[in-house]
Amino acid sequence: MEYKLIGPEHYDQVLEHLRRNFFADEPLNKAAGVCQNGSSSAELEEHCVEAMQDGMSLMAVEPQQLGSCKIAGVVLNGIYRSEDTVKALEKLDRSNDPGYRKIFALLHCHNTKNDLFKKYAVESIFDVRILSVDSSYRGRGIANELVKQSVALAKKNGFCLLKADATGIFSQKIFRSHGFEVFAEQPYDKYTDDDGHIILPVEAPHIKLQLLIKHIYEQKLAKD
Ligand code: ACO
Repeated sequence: MEYKLIGPEHYDQVLEHLRRNFFADEPLNKAAGVCQNGSSSAELEEHCVEAMQDGMSLMAVEPQQLGSCKIAGVVLNGIYRSEDTVKALEKLDRSNDPGYRKIFALLHCHNTKNDLFKKYAVESIFDVRILSVDSSYRGRGIANELVKQSVALAKKNGFCLLKADATGIFSQKIFRSHGFEVFAEQPYDKYTDDDGHIILPVEAPHIKLQLLIKHIYEQKLAKD
């Protein structure tokens, strides 16, 4: 498998990969029914393109298929800045997509409540936003490698803090195995409306959203 940076020339193919995989079977997308039967959500796609435009997203491609560029998996990494939450909440207010609203109300509310900028006095955070592997390539360590290379990329770009909103038990396990720690979590059955109804009926075995973080400490050079 070859791992490379995603450039603007790959955006269409990455979105096509996401429509067939992430939008269809990531736990929150599935619960909200955002994309059914290969359909998609314009707002969700815009969210993905915005992450790719930060230039730190990666894709796994089979070497023999480079010509046709069959994507086996992607990780979309964006730069998260403190002012982004306010802008995101304004965007959410304007959204007419009920599924998108349910998912992003949960994510933004969780991130606002657990203010990493205040806690760690950083201006920007390397945000691992979308981790997705084609269903026919799962179980071969591709997601593990995408997260490993994302950590290396964050280090190379001088970030001292990484975060991920991991929505299912498998992604949570993957992040923890790369040194991420749970900062906060939200059980799905406790995310309810005013009448006590569960807003996102996420299927088992996924039971909670986890906000995971990883610090990168500068290595001290040994003194002569
Ligand atoms: N059942 C049991 N274990 C699993 C499963 C599964 N379905 N999927 C992954 N794992 C475990 C593996 O056993 C492995 O553990 P190990 O390191 O101890 O051997 C570990 O998770 C990593 O496995 P990979 O093979 O690297 O994972 P894969 O390439 O199959 O991708 C992913 C996992 C990304 C969760 C994939 O199933 C997927 O795309 N799911 C749909 C989208 C999704 O839920 N993405 C994550 C949302 S959170 C976010 O995007 C920030």
